[in-house]
Amino acid sequence: MTSPDTTIDFAAVRTAGADLRRGPRPAVAARELSTGGTGEPYTRLAPVPCGATIGAEIPGIDLSRPLDDAVLAELRRALLEYKVLFFRDQDLTADRHAAFARHWGEPQIHPFLPKAGRPEVVRLAHDADAPGVENIWHSDASFTGTPPFGSILRAVEVPDIGGDTMWADMAAAYDGLPDDVRTAIDGLTATHDFTQSFGRLMTGEQLAEARRAYPPVRHPVVRTIPETGRKLIYVNSVFTARIDGVGEADGADLLDILTDQARHPEYQVRFRWEPGSVAFWDNRITQHYALCDYYPRPRVMERVTITGDRPR
Ligand SMILES: [Fe+2]
Repeated sequence: MTSPDTTIDFAAVRTAGADLRRGPRPAVAARELSTGGTGEPYTRLAPVPCGATIGAEIPGIDLSRPLDDAVLAELRRALLEYKVLFFRDQDLTADRHAAFARHWGEPQIHPFLPKAGRPEVVRLAHDADAPGVENIWHSDASFTGTPPFGSILRAVEVPDIGGDTMWADMAAAYDGLPDDVRTAIDGLTATHDFTQSFGRLMTGEQLAEARRAYPPVRHPVVRTIPETGRKLIYVNSVFTARIDGVGEADGADLLDILTDQARHPEYQVRFRWEPGSVAFWDNRITQHYALCDYYPRPRVMERVTITGDRPR
């Protein structure tokens, strides 16, 4: 999709990247941050926004019950606007969790992670014998050709303190990029690959077989959400191996600058889990980071992801 590019001004990109490292100013400080929603009122839901551009709690809804079309339509609109929705005190089993996910599309079966009774329900369980490893900014399964549209995560057992999850709005992060960086990344693609994460836990034979099933894939560096037209930074620290078509050192520096943008608090929301809490995020436009600050106490979560489209 891309050929070696000698037209990018990498000196300007590095200068902009060094400036950004201290915080996204003045581009962001001098701009009104908003969710990017349509402003259309909600009549069946009452979202309570949690961050400037990302996150809303949705009170008064029982995800274990059938949901009518009007509620589902507003949930979809709220997901596009707030990017991650939070629900408290839900009484979900693995079966009900999967049933709720089916409202949004076909659940994706994760090739590597352990399951919780059903093939589409992933179990993420950590304790003193298996400390948490999800404290790296990423979007789920971007190493697949059609990465998940959404992820639905349910708290099964959570520590009394610690184990929060953070999400970053990568469209807000794109909006905060200086012109030199936006110009540089326009039209670029990047290679995503599982080998630097899940692959490290595999034997040589397992890795060879998994590589055949999941070869490296190229996705655009700037992705557009079809429903809203929002552009976003679509590279992450876990699965993006390299920027295609540029020199190795230039590409590595550019990838660092872009993945770093998830770290700015202006673009983030942080959620404190309770038993029965559920988070539903648009996995296309967000990245997330699960804090590993609860060792040796256990933290058990279950997740269903919903198959998405090829990024464009
Ligand atoms: Fe994740």
